[in-house]
Amino acid sequence: MEERTIRLDLCSSRKEKPKTQQLEFGRVFTDHMFIMDYSDELGWNDPRIVPYQPLSIDPSAMVFHYGQSVFEGLKAYLTPNGEAQLFRPEKNFHRLNRSNSRLCIPPIDEEFAIKAIQQLVALEKDWIPDAEGTSLYIRPFIISTEPYLGVAPSRHYKFIIILSPVGAYYKEGINPIKIAVENQYVRAVTGGTGEAKTGGNYASSLKAQESVAGKGFAQVLWLDGVERKYVEEVGSMNVFFKINGEVVTPALNGSILEGVTRNSVIQLLNHWNVPIVERKISMEEVYQAHQDGVLEEAFGAGTAAVVSPIGQLTWNDESLIINDAKTGNVAKKLYDTLTGIQYGRVDDPFNWVVKV
Ligand code: COI
Repeated sequence: MEERTIRLDLCSSRKEKPKTQQLEFGRVFTDHMFIMDYSDELGWNDPRIVPYQPLSIDPSAMVFHYGQSVFEGLKAYLTPNGEAQLFRPEKNFHRLNRSNSRLCIPPIDEEFAIKAIQQLVALEKDWIPDAEGTSLYIRPFIISTEPYLGVAPSRHYKFIIILSPVGAYYKEGINPIKIAVENQYVRAVTGGTGEAKTGGNYASSLKAQESVAGKGFAQVLWLDGVERKYVEEVGSMNVFFKINGEVVTPALNGSILEGVTRNSVIQLLNHWNVPIVERKISMEEVYQAHQDGVLEEAFGAGTAAVVSPIGQLTWNDESLIINDAKTGNVAKKLYDTLTGIQYGRVDDPFNWVVKV
């Protein structure tokens, strides 16, 4: 890899930091951001860290019209001795390049992107909150910026990384959430963009989300787009069911996002010899397991959501209360172990942590 230096243009004054106990998800941003440009002539060029600021982009830039954009989400954590660390950042950039490929965006240099994050987070280390359950959320994203209204891959892009000190993603914190199974709309189909992390997947999820938000549901659970039968994912997290001692998660099928936390949960369960299978699972099977008294736990896993127990799953007019709406043992152990590794409180047997 060619050695590239990141140009620095630092702020003259720093913003006031929020109180860490009152942090919401994704509302406050740090003092600086990373930017790099792409043109067909120069490739990815001019990497720089600059004051956090609005972008000036032509109204005809292709991203505004045809949505050619991708993003990632990862976090920086503060350890008990005050060091900053990342969790499996190589997985995020590997996935970003897979999303790039699906959206016809030129690949980025994954190692260089991790270096950029390390440099940016080191500069903004004072922004990493230290209250329980808080972290510095890292949002790398790429947008197409060529001023052109033809439908074609753009010839210009910007790769940007912004940072946001965050608390829990759901207002419930780590307490069990309520999820509604979505029957009318679908999120993605195999062959579409479901496994890419692109804004359009999230835009198309809003309608369903909005229709249940006022009824106490944190999110909707998407079913497959063809038969409306098999469980897919929640949009902000992958899902797991513990049925009769075995944990089941929907197999990756091209329309489900391959979560970094999903992968980590599977590895931890294997490590603990807890049976875990990736396969198709229908909502009918989940319902039947509940009727038979063998649906022991349900939980979601994602970077923003961490491990979130699902206490209620509403499907048509039936509300399934799972594990008395309490956090189950497997979800609790996963949450404690994953966050323990992320915050440097417990051993990291898989070498997942990368120091800043
Ligand atoms: C993440 O978990 O980082 C995500 O990207 C989900 C998000 C849409 C909040």
